[in-house]
Amino acid sequence: MASLAQRAHVRVRGLEIDSEGIIPDAFEAACLKERPKALYCNPTDHNPTTAVMSETRRRELIDIARRHSVLIIEDDTLGRLVSDAPPPLAAMAPDVVWYIMGLTKCLAHGLRMAYVVAPSATEMESVFGPARRLSFWAPAALSAAIATYWIEQGTAEAICAAIRDESRERVQLARRILDGADLAATSEALHVWLRLDASRDRHDFVASLERQGVLVRPSDLFAVDGDPPENAVRLSLSSPPSRAEVECGLRTVASTLGLVSSS
Ligand SMILES: Cc1ncc(COP(=O)(O)O)c(C=O)c1O
Repeated sequence: MASLAQRAHVRVRGLEIDSEGIIPDAFEAACLKERPKALYCNPTDHNPTTAVMSETRRRELIDIARRHSVLIIEDDTLGRLVSDAPPPLAAMAPDVVWYIMGLTKCLAHGLRMAYVVAPSATEMESVFGPARRLSFWAPAALSAAIATYWIEQGTAEAICAAIRDESRERVQLARRILDGADLAATSEALHVWLRLDASRDRHDFVASLERQGVLVRPSDLFAVDGDPPENAVRLSLSSPPSRAEVECGLRTVASTLGLVSSS
C-alpha cells in the first residue's frame, strides 16, 4: 500500500495503534492537523500486528471520519480468516467506506482476484472509469468464472474454513514453541507478530535467522513514515507448505531467541 501511494504521489502518514488497531484520538488529531482525504485500515487482523478492532473502536473511527469528511479504505483481505470478528466497517457505514476484499488469503493465491465495494456507483465510476481503458477491460475471465462458481457452490466457504483450521494449528504451534516470547496473534492468523526486547537488535536477529534459512520481516518494512514504533518482526506461518517446515522454522526462531525449547 505504501509503495502504491508513493507511485500515485499520495502523502501517507502513520497513526498510533494499540492492541485494537488505530487509536481514535490519534486519528482525530491527524484529521485536525493534516486534513487527510482518506483513512486506510485493516480492522480485522491488521497486517502485521494482527490487531482486531472491537465494534466500539470501529464505530468511534467511523464517527470521526464522518465528522471530518474523511473516506475510509477498508482492506479486509485477511478478515474472512477470523471467524469471530465484528462486522466490517463497510457494513456499518457503507456511505463512507471503500471496501476491498481479495481472494489471495482466504481462497487461492493463483486466482489473483479482488473485489471493491464503493460507497456509490458514481464514486466507483469516477475512480475506475478513467483507468479502465488504460489498464483493463475486464478481470481475467477464467479466474472470475472459477471464483464465482466456488462462491456460489459453497466451495469457497469450505476452502476458507480449511485455511482457518490449518492456521489455528500453526498458531498453536507458534504459541507452544515460542512460549515465553512476546507474541501477538489471532487464533487463526496467517502470521504472528513477535515483539523483541529493547536490547535486541532486530536487524541482527533477522540476519541471523536468514543465515539459518529462515526469512522473517522486520517492523521497518511496515512503517510508512519514519522509524517503526515497535522493535518486532513478523513471522509468516502460511508460507511454508508443510506444518513440519513451520515447526522447523519456529524452532530456529526459538533457539535464536534463547528460549528453552519445548517438545
Ligand atoms: C492486508 C493486506 N492487503 C492486501 C494484500 C495483498 O494481497 P494480494 O496478494 O491479493 O495482492 C496483503 C498481502 O499480504 C495484505 O496482507
